[in-house]
Amino acid sequence: MKKKILVTGGAGYIGSHTTVELQNAGYEVVIIDDLSNSTIDSIDGIEKITGVRPHFEQIDCNDLPALKELVKKHGDIQGIIHFAASKAVGESVQKPLLYYRNNIDSLINMLEIMPENKIKGIVFSSSCTVYGEPDNNPIDETAPIKPATSPYGNTKQINEEIIQDYIRSGAPIKSIILRYFNPIGAHPSAEIGELPNGVPQNLIPFITQTAIGVRECLSVFGDDYNTPDGSCIRDFINVVDLAKAHVIAMDRMLEDKSDEKVEIFNLGTGNGVSVLELINGFERVNDVKLNYKIVARRGGDIEKIWAEPTRANKVLGWKAVETLDDTLKSAWLWQLKLREKGIM
Ligand code: NAD
Ligand code: WQD
Repeated sequence: MKKKILVTGGAGYIGSHTTVELQNAGYEVVIIDDLSNSTIDSIDGIEKITGVRPHFEQIDCNDLPALKELVKKHGDIQGIIHFAASKAVGESVQKPLLYYRNNIDSLINMLEIMPENKIKGIVFSSSCTVYGEPDNNPIDETAPIKPATSPYGNTKQINEEIIQDYIRSGAPIKSIILRYFNPIGAHPSAEIGELPNGVPQNLIPFITQTAIGVRECLSVFGDDYNTPDGSCIRDFINVVDLAKAHVIAMDRMLEDKSDEKVEIFNLGTGNGVSVLELINGFERVNDVKLNYKIVARRGGDIEKIWAEPTRANKVLGWKAVETLDDTLKSAWLWQLKLREKGIM
């Protein structure tokens, strides 16, 4: 029988790509999403790609009674992948309580329903933001956690601590915490991808929307950093590669491949790429010209960070394999598809 997984935030960017990979691997997926930052279109996209429509319920993870009812209804959920969260760094500075409530209460609810429903494991979406500005790159999982620079980042640090404290207290669950670097790109079918609400804060959606003419000009935030070309450096990881790591993590917990109750992995490529290199790469592989200008630094930006992914490579047997060129092509294909559908 297919193992059933609850995917919170499964209509969102990373959750929809992960649902595709879970279904391809033979899992049955139940998605809950309040659609606060996504639409039902992504569920249609998942069905188009896999031929299977995941179960979907529009539920807020903070609604504990609704959550309990859903889990009872499905009966045999074995694992949770918890993507649901508010994720805009700037907004979190403006509305900290919204971020603390949404990101912390929802995780507590997930953890609370696990033992009583014999749900064995939870994969948690964390972020490289927990490292702050690294002392050294690439950065591995033993690096110190620096004071958070935003309420959003703080919620990820607190979430990691909540999981660890709960398991340390003897809760009969396992967890794998995945620290993502910068996920970009879209499924090669262009049926699902990243579609932020409003003006994009992240680099790739701003690039693709500028290239297609929705935005007039991309602002590059600073070219006076201590990096070879002066722009910031990040570890851009293909979203499908990232999604596949979740399937491996879930298998690992459900099949007790490790005795550890909590494990933490960086998910990145191990390569640092500058903002200007990314822009040039996007123009080259897609044969488009991008209107951009250099402006002042964005407050709070990290100068350079890229992952040491060896632990995930060795322990999980997972590796990012997609090339940056193909990833940048997929991002553009997705934007073209949105235009074709009249969405943007
Ligand atoms: P996303 O906004 O596309 O997906 C999150 C989904 O969760 C959305 O569909 C949203 O509607 C839903 N959601 C939010 N609050 C909810 C609630 N209370 N109840 C039910 N659904 C709710 O974001 P994403 O980029 O797919 O990110 C997924 C996870 O990965 C988040 O936890 C995010 O913090 C984390 N993360 C993302 C990145 C990134 O750059 N995209 C990097 C590191 C970590
Ligand atoms: C990347 C680089 C910008 C937009 C954020 C969160 C982090 C994680 C990923 C969730 C930076 C530059 C961007 C633009 C630009 N999310 N940039 N012009 O800041 O690395 O990380 O998303 O956990 O927590 O902080 O990603 O895509 O915003 O920026 O020049 O219009 O692109 O300055 O150097 P970031 P990003």
